[in-house]
Amino acid sequence: MTAKVIDGKAFAAGVRAQVAAEVAKLKANNGIVPGLAVVLVGEDPASKVYVKNKHASTIEVGMNSFEHRLDADTSEAHLLALIAQLNADPTVHGILVQLPLPAHLNSDLVINAIDPAKDVDGFHISNVGLLGTGQKSMVPCTPLGCLMMLRDHHGKLAGMNAVVVGRSNIVGKPMAQLLLGDSCTVTIAHSRTKDLEAVCRGADILVAAVGRPEMITGAYVKPGATVIDVGINRIERDGKAKLVGDVHYESAAAVAGAITPVPGGVGPMTIACLLANTLTACCRANGLAEPKGLTA
Ligand code: GUN
Repeated sequence: MTAKVIDGKAFAAGVRAQVAAEVAKLKANNGIVPGLAVVLVGEDPASKVYVKNKHASTIEVGMNSFEHRLDADTSEAHLLALIAQLNADPTVHGILVQLPLPAHLNSDLVINAIDPAKDVDGFHISNVGLLGTGQKSMVPCTPLGCLMMLRDHHGKLAGMNAVVVGRSNIVGKPMAQLLLGDSCTVTIAHSRTKDLEAVCRGADILVAAVGRPEMITGAYVKPGATVIDVGINRIERDGKAKLVGDVHYESAAAVAGAITPVPGGVGPMTIACLLANTLTACCRANGLAEPKGLTA
């Protein structure tokens, strides 16, 4: 079997186009422009690239982008004061503090200082609790993007066996909650799981979010399963820099029914869902109906 390739790049372009159309309607009908504030502390090169891409995409869909770059030695009090200011600003509908933060800053404290209604990352403890209890929340962008692609590919997910490899707060745990919300039978596996290969081979839906280059080979995949690769790993091969996922693409694609590539799979969906979340937050803040298909 050769797997169908789930084209995240094209899917994300469609989501961005839908967001842009809704933003144009908001402007024309209500005179409202959604605004996203992104806070970057320090000089982490990968974070700088992410923040630059977020800014460009935000502008491209017609939203306001507010960038706040702070020195690496910024104090916690200073950062918390900025968050308080953004919480109070009615032109800001979404706030994202780029992670990781420098070691002297307490990430939990900082994230939980964001107004949950503006927490477009879905990392605030209130949103985590709302998602876990099946209530309306802001949903973390990467798992939301994975869910959108899975719903698009399968229609209904009810009754499917889903295995999520990885238990991070950013991907693994919220992904499992979302799949459970769609009535999958969900297993969260991780580095200490016994016989991980066999556990994964039980999956109709296999989500790889372990952060280990090409760890999930074809031996982990049930024939015909859908494989979602969340990993983005920079490696060197044959003296060249290369981007690979957590899935060994060639061997997995030979067994799977459908698979997301790296690059061009989950990655582009994360920013598209950040824009979708910002639009959702803006609609909620203004008491307007949320656009369909952009939330969990
Ligand atoms: N760093 C890596 N991924 C993310 C993300 O999704 N949100 C934030 N805020 N920081 C990140």
